[in-house]
Amino acid sequence: MSCPHCQGLESLFNQRQARNDLKAYRKLGPSKATGILLVALRAAGIEGATLLDIGGGVGVIQLDLMHAGVARAVDVDASTAYLAAAREEAERAGFGSQVTYLHGDFVELAPTIDMADIVTLDRVVCCYPDMPALVGLSAARARRLYGVIYPRDAWWTRWGAAAVNLAMRVRRVPYRFYVHAPSAVGAQAQSAGLEPHFRRVLGVWQVEVFRRMQAAPA
Ligand SMILES: C[S@@+](CC[C@H](N)C(=O)[O-])C[C@H]1O[C@@H](n2cnc3c(N)ncnc32)[C@H](O)[C@@H]1O
Repeated sequence: MSCPHCQGLESLFNQRQARNDLKAYRKLGPSKATGILLVALRAAGIEGATLLDIGGGVGVIQLDLMHAGVARAVDVDASTAYLAAAREEAERAGFGSQVTYLHGDFVELAPTIDMADIVTLDRVVCCYPDMPALVGLSAARARRLYGVIYPRDAWWTRWGAAAVNLAMRVRRVPYRFYVHAPSAVGAQAQSAGLEPHFRRVLGVWQVEVFRRMQAAPA
């Protein structure tokens, strides 16, 4: 991965951050927004499904959904430290052999990645400048359900993003936080053949689930 923002992901989501996230997950479980996404996905039916979790972090979504019946998962992450932490946690939970770990930028790897029944991106769209490529390519890989958590578009989230990005510039970390318009995110998902199924806003975050439109009966 040679792109500047990919190097930013490696340096921000480093080993120390991965240890902290793993510790927090073991103590507190999924965050509130992630919990909402997990309930919505489980309610849509996930028994025996395959999962593609992009930017899976320490593997919270993979673990929860495998406990609930998902058969296999692929975790694609630009952070080596997060992939190692996710693998450690999956092995600890007895799911190690059911997850494939791929390191890299999903947008670059997309042509080599198979479709999955469920595709998830939890707080990943806000790490990536080219939202149409990330959402378009990932939505196209969802056979049934597409779950995404990203920041709501409000003046205060845009100010927050500007403050984070100033701090990153000062620290010379090539990571930037992006607030993408929900209408544009939804349009990308819909142009990949998905329709809105669930939406909830919780503080900074909005949680959305799309599902693949059924073909009309002949
Ligand atoms: C803020 S963390 C969120 C981690 C986890 N999903 C969670 O909610 O706890 C963003 C994650 O997305 C990954 N990421 C961002 N853009 C990516 C891309 N284009 N391809 C693969 N991983 C990406 C980062 O490496 C990091 O693991």
